[in-house]
Amino acid sequence: MESFNFLLLSFSLFFLAAVSLLILRSSAAASRRKRHLPPGTFGLPFLGETLQLISAYKTGNPEPFVDDRVGKYGAVFTTHIFGEPTVFSADPELNRFVLQNEGRLFEASYPASIANLLGRYSLVLMSGTLHKRMHSLTMSFVNSSTMKDYLLLDIDRLVRLNMDSWTGRILLMEETKKITFQLMVKQLMSFDPCEWTENLMKEYMLVIDGFFTLPSPLLSATYRRAIQARGKVAEALNKVVTERRKEREFGAEKKNDMLEALLEGDGGATGGDGSGGGFSDEEIVDFILALLVAGYETTSTIMTLAVKFLTETPLALAQLKKEHDEIRLRKGEIRALEWDDYKSMPFTQCVINETLRVANIIGGVFRRATTDVNIKGYTIPKGFRIFASFRGVHLDQEHFTDARTFDPWRWQSNPGPTSSMTAYMPFGGGPRRCPGYELARVELSVFLHHLITRFSWAPAEEDKLVFFPTTRMIKRYPIIVQNRSISMNTE
Ligand code: HEM
Repeated sequence: MESFNFLLLSFSLFFLAAVSLLILRSSAAASRRKRHLPPGTFGLPFLGETLQLISAYKTGNPEPFVDDRVGKYGAVFTTHIFGEPTVFSADPELNRFVLQNEGRLFEASYPASIANLLGRYSLVLMSGTLHKRMHSLTMSFVNSSTMKDYLLLDIDRLVRLNMDSWTGRILLMEETKKITFQLMVKQLMSFDPCEWTENLMKEYMLVIDGFFTLPSPLLSATYRRAIQARGKVAEALNKVVTERRKEREFGAEKKNDMLEALLEGDGGATGGDGSGGGFSDEEIVDFILALLVAGYETTSTIMTLAVKFLTETPLALAQLKKEHDEIRLRKGEIRALEWDDYKSMPFTQCVINETLRVANIIGGVFRRATTDVNIKGYTIPKGFRIFASFRGVHLDQEHFTDARTFDPWRWQSNPGPTSSMTAYMPFGGGPRRCPGYELARVELSVFLHHLITRFSWAPAEEDKLVFFPTTRMIKRYPIIVQNRSISMNTE
């Protein structure tokens, strides 16, 4: 009798769950029709399609997640991911529209874990007048002329310094992270690599680990560690700001770095509108903390993946070698690269474009509609989230021939991101377009130059590229390097 009761209870619960699911689904479909949302499915209650997305992006081939839905519904579809219904766009026109209308029809939307760890005065979380000012301040700090005048010198020196210790087996992902972290610290605060920068980097890694966890110190040990590490990083940066303020008071020589530009800044968020007073220590610390994250994690991943793709495409590697060996031979004894050298690397730029296209380290960005937006026959309701997928576009045959193949030569007829290839947006677009896009290119070019002219290499073991929670090589891409010298008869 007891087991019969249990069976009856189980059946009733199952029946209730099935009916609720049906009601939820049909009411979601009805409300979608009413609101003219793009077609699609919200998946399971609460979870939506998050698990399908995560399991796809944890593999080396996440494309079926988007391919299946684009096949069924078209390039713009509705789904439910990371706790919210979301319009997913693999349509370049819609993506561009969303990014261009930042601040008017849409606003940036980051998960709570990232927002809490970055701090409210990080560029990615600012909006309005303050965002505009700080974005252009950042741009003016990393534009072509600052790079030509002094940043290139540091980039070249630090890349070479790091490579001096390379021998035998190295973990390329670790090495590139070290390089880009040191570069950002130097450019932001004028510190050369030392024990202090090394410790700071260790804490940073813990902060980044917390970006993709549950934002609850009680439920997630990773998040708890990340919050603690964030505190330590902020404390260290605070000390630097205090010291620099003192140096300035005592008339020390001005430094050519971002911190100096911020201290010179004639108005921060104090007062709330971005117009009054100087920047407070909290504003400067949040701003630098986030800039450091934005600048080093992305570029180091692209450096590693460029090497991976080149290793797998020997013809491209051979052509790149030729380009860099010629530069090296032309320069003779002079080791440091100059601006004119950087400007004479056309195939390198093709390799960089193609790596950015295929790797998609920032696969897309989340935005939220600030008003009802009617576009392409659909309505994106106010408050609704939209994901502008760069990856979905970059790997679509409709926009790039043989889209899933690494083919740097495709850029020879369409050089550069300012070309007619409007579907190409690895650095985003609109008012939030990456201010570091040119800095990243210079760093990548210098890195490839020294790597290729100083070493030959081979993978030390099999490794795998995955895309969730971030784009990375599982084993950090172990390679074995060997010194090489260049003669007129290059390999
Ligand atoms: C290969 C390297 C890089 C890639 C692929 C990349 C990509 C991007 C993308 C797609 C965005 C737009 C985010 C959005 O619209 O919400 C962005 C924003 C940003 N990037 Fe980069 N980035 C790279 C390197 C850098 C570097 C070296 C810096 C250092 C200056 C940097 C600083 C930033 C900042 C501060 C933002 C926020 C801009 C804003 O919200 O106004 N990035 N990046």
